[in-house]
Amino acid sequence: MSLPPPPEMDPSTSPDRQDREKDVAARAAAELVEDGMIVGLGTGSTVAFLLPALAARGLTLRCVATSPRTETTGRALGLSVESFGTLDRFDIAIDGADQIAPDGWLVKGGGAAHTREKIVAATADRFVVIADSSKTVPAISPPIPVELMQYGLAATMRRLGDVRLRDVPRSPDGGVIGDYFGPVDDVEWAAALLSATPGVVDHGLFQPSIVSDIIVAHGEVVDHRRLR
Ligand code: 5RP
Repeated sequence: MSLPPPPEMDPSTSPDRQDREKDVAARAAAELVEDGMIVGLGTGSTVAFLLPALAARGLTLRCVATSPRTETTGRALGLSVESFGTLDRFDIAIDGADQIAPDGWLVKGGGAAHTREKIVAATADRFVVIADSSKTVPAISPPIPVELMQYGLAATMRRLGDVRLRDVPRSPDGGVIGDYFGPVDDVEWAAALLSATPGVVDHGLFQPSIVSDIIVAHGEVVDHRRLR
């Protein structure tokens, strides 16, 4: 007989349940990949469930990773991971998210890989987001991850206002990683502001127009929304 959870733990947000949901969403996304495809691989703990699910399918794929971590893990699992190099499109890219709003806006970059992830997402014919149910939010809210140029960093931070730098290594491309805590009630405006600020390499707001599918697991149930 299994014991009930301790009273202070909400089973809907327990780490075990979140991991189970990440696995369920990741497996559903792995099924969308077909033999011969060029695949963009995201970064993070949800993608960590995708990689073995994809490898287990035994397909012949060409993969590009958005981080050294994904590249190393993917290769260790037998996936063919190559550099972005001269590739100019992906059939599909699959990645996690930190926040998913009802209108399809995303926040990404919890793992500081958002600049590469946005390039890969925008290059993919189909960009599939995978997540556990804790990632769905009624509206986008701060913090929004940012990658900043070291050159002129103080000036860029002053211009942005409320930005806090993370105590993490620079991105593989040399960028300084931080989070923007300014207003994001009007997400489109906030994304345009961040994009237009000199010294911002890129930010973690992903617009709905680049998102094709959102796959969220609620327990064992997969909610698969197609946006385009
Ligand atoms: C990394 C990301 C991740 O996809 C995002 O932070 C979600 O991570 P996780 O799957 O670990 O919850 O954007 O830069």
